[in-house]
Amino acid sequence: APPRGDASAAAEEAMLAQLEKRPVCTILIIIAMQTEALPVVNKFQLVEDPNTVFPEGVPWVRYHGVYKDLNINLIWPGKDPSLGVDSVGTVSASLVTYASIQALQPDLIINAGTAGGFKAKGACIGDVFLASEVAFHDRRIPIPVFDLYGVGLRQALSTPSLVKDLNLKVGKLSTGDSLDMSPQDEATIIANDATVKDMEGAAVAYVADLLKVPAIFVKAVTDLVDGDKPTADEFLQNLATVTAALNETVSQVVNFVNGKCLSEL
Ligand code: ADE
Repeated sequence: APPRGDASAAAEEAMLAQLEKRPVCTILIIIAMQTEALPVVNKFQLVEDPNTVFPEGVPWVRYHGVYKDLNINLIWPGKDPSLGVDSVGTVSASLVTYASIQALQPDLIINAGTAGGFKAKGACIGDVFLASEVAFHDRRIPIPVFDLYGVGLRQALSTPSLVKDLNLKVGKLSTGDSLDMSPQDEATIIANDATVKDMEGAAVAYVADLLKVPAIFVKAVTDLVDGDKPTADEFLQNLATVTAALNETVSQVVNFVNGKCLSEL
C-alpha cells in the first residue's frame, strides 16, 4: 500500500478529477470595489442577500442569482465600517474568500477588478487580462524558504479554451497592499515577471489554494505603472470606462463557463 500521504493525495486527485467531469454549478465572483461590482450585479440581475451568510456586523455583501445553469454569487467586501471607503486589499480579500468558500462551496472563483499595467510588458489602458499565475510583491522575508513563502506564488486554473474563445490577453499578476509602487516593490514585481499589479489577487489565490477551489483572475488596466501620469490620478480618471470593459469580459467569462466542466475551460 502507498504511504498515507500518497493515498490521501490520490483520493483528493480522484475527487478533483470527478469534479472536473461535471459542469460548473456554483460560481463565486469576488470584486473589491463597489464601482466595479455594481455593473456585474445589474448585468446578471443579482439581488442582495437579505439573510447574510456572513457573521453579523461585517460589511461584506453577497449578491446572488440564477443565470442559465449557474448559481452566481458576487461578493463585495463592502465599505470600511469606520471610514466608509471600499475595503480593498489583501486582508479583506482573504477574509471574504475564506468565509464565502465555507458558506457557498463554489466550484470556481472569479476574482475580478481593476489593475495597474506595465506598458513594457504590453499592457494598455482598457486591456482586460486573465492572469496565468499570481504572487505577492510586498512580503519580503530574506531567509531561505521564507522568501518563497512571502512571494506566495500560485497558479490560476488553466483555461486555454476560455483564453482562445474570448481572445483574452494573458499575463502574470503581482499583488501588494499599496496602490503606488516603491522601489523595493518594483524589484519584486520584475522578479515576478508581472504584467499587471493589483491589491487582492494573490490573497484570493492563497485561500482558494488552501481550500482547493480553482480560481481565475480577470484584471482590467486603469493605469500604467511605468507610464508618466501619477497612478492615483490616472486610476480615478479611467475607473468608469475601464469598469465597463471589465464588466463586459466578466459577462463573457460567465457565459463561456455556463454548461462546461472545469476541464473544458
Ligand atoms: N488597481 C488599479 N490600479 C492599480 C495599481 N496601480 N496598483 C494596484 N492596484 C491597482
